[in-house]
Amino acid sequence: MLTRADNELMCLVGPGTAMGATLRRHWLPALSSSELPQPGDDPVHVELLGEHFVAFRDDAGRVGLLDESCCHRGASLMLARVEGCGLRCIYHGWKFAVDGAVLDTPNVPDPKFTDRIRARAYPVRESGGLIWAYLGPREGVPEFPKWPWMELAPANRLNAVAQINCNFVQIMEGLLDSSHLSVLHISPLRASAQSQLQFARKAEHMAFDAAPRIEAELTDFGLHYAALREVPSDQGTRIEARVAAFISPCFIANPNGDLFFVIVPMNDTTTRFYHVWWDAERNIGEEPLRSEQLRFVGLDDESLKQHGMTPETADRSARASRENRWHQNREQLRAGHFTGIHSFTQEDVAVSVSAGAIRDRTKEMLSLADLAIGRLYRVLLNTAKRVAAGQPPIGVDADTTAIRGAQGVLAPGVNWRTLVPAHQVLRARDVADSAA
Ligand code: FES
Ligand SMILES: [Fe+2]
Repeated sequence: MLTRADNELMCLVGPGTAMGATLRRHWLPALSSSELPQPGDDPVHVELLGEHFVAFRDDAGRVGLLDESCCHRGASLMLARVEGCGLRCIYHGWKFAVDGAVLDTPNVPDPKFTDRIRARAYPVRESGGLIWAYLGPREGVPEFPKWPWMELAPANRLNAVAQINCNFVQIMEGLLDSSHLSVLHISPLRASAQSQLQFARKAEHMAFDAAPRIEAELTDFGLHYAALREVPSDQGTRIEARVAAFISPCFIANPNGDLFFVIVPMNDTTTRFYHVWWDAERNIGEEPLRSEQLRFVGLDDESLKQHGMTPETADRSARASRENRWHQNREQLRAGHFTGIHSFTQEDVAVSVSAGAIRDRTKEMLSLADLAIGRLYRVLLNTAKRVAAGQPPIGVDADTTAIRGAQGVLAPGVNWRTLVPAHQVLRARDVADSAA
């Protein structure tokens, strides 16, 4: 349970907020590369942390991210023309390069004028199928992350994104909550027993034991936690461990070990939920594996559109809401499906969105099963308070080459931490030092 003030501190992300300042100190995905595939494509609207931008790709393939509002007199650069090496505002024709340099001002012929002014542009990097931006102070640009999937060829990587109408923290909570898997997702999990997908095989054992033992602890990058399940087997029972890592402030390495999430607030009540699967051996980014995988979790284009989870549909009646009972089909439920909801993703969205645009945490009743959720609050509040006090945010110097999610069968007496040997657990003294 949190006070109203702490809940707001943790959830609000706009300019001038502590969590907003914290998120602005990290590289964040602004959009998927597939949303801006070609030089000369129409400029794309990007909403990030409550601010509006446009992204465009110049003729050299470089991506620029500028304030949406033209630096001259504010016309939207969504209207602008993409011309060669820049973006030209249609109002008075000022033209901007990806780095904000002013290339042309037809209504002010003085060449010195263009040298004196600059549009607001942000550092951009493209990696792992994502276009990343840094919105924070220029003197503090952090090292660019080196997640293992960034180096792989596009064929070995599968990117997907869903737009969800609630605050980012409640989506992260669902990803750090192993106990809901064997309940909320029990129907798709049971169905996965028939699936040949590798992803389905990894999830299968979660259909057993709805009360996994949860152990969670703070680390130098945020937190990690283990869900330990007793699974029946021919030799009696075995312990399956699933270890997830939360890298502050919005990155999660899933226990599957080949699935990574970035949960990026567009504003306080709308979130972009990026998924990246990777496989160095198999071409999961190509057909037929790509579509099979996306359909299995409900992230295929058709499902996303039907459920109002794309930029074009998220504001429409298709979005999950009380009016459409968050897309629950009661007939299906009565017929035996546990939730009556389309798939994993839509089940998660229904419970997250139905809790309110920003969940009221002054009323919740956390239990032992929610250990990782309480730790998540603690990391987020700590990092926001640290940044407000002028200290570096948690996770900004995380060793992105070594942090991982993992799962495995534990031999008797083996500690689950052996699955994630590179994670540095904070000692009680360190935790006390940085406690919120
Ligand atoms: S408002 Fe963009 S050039 Fe004048
Ligand atoms: Fe879920």
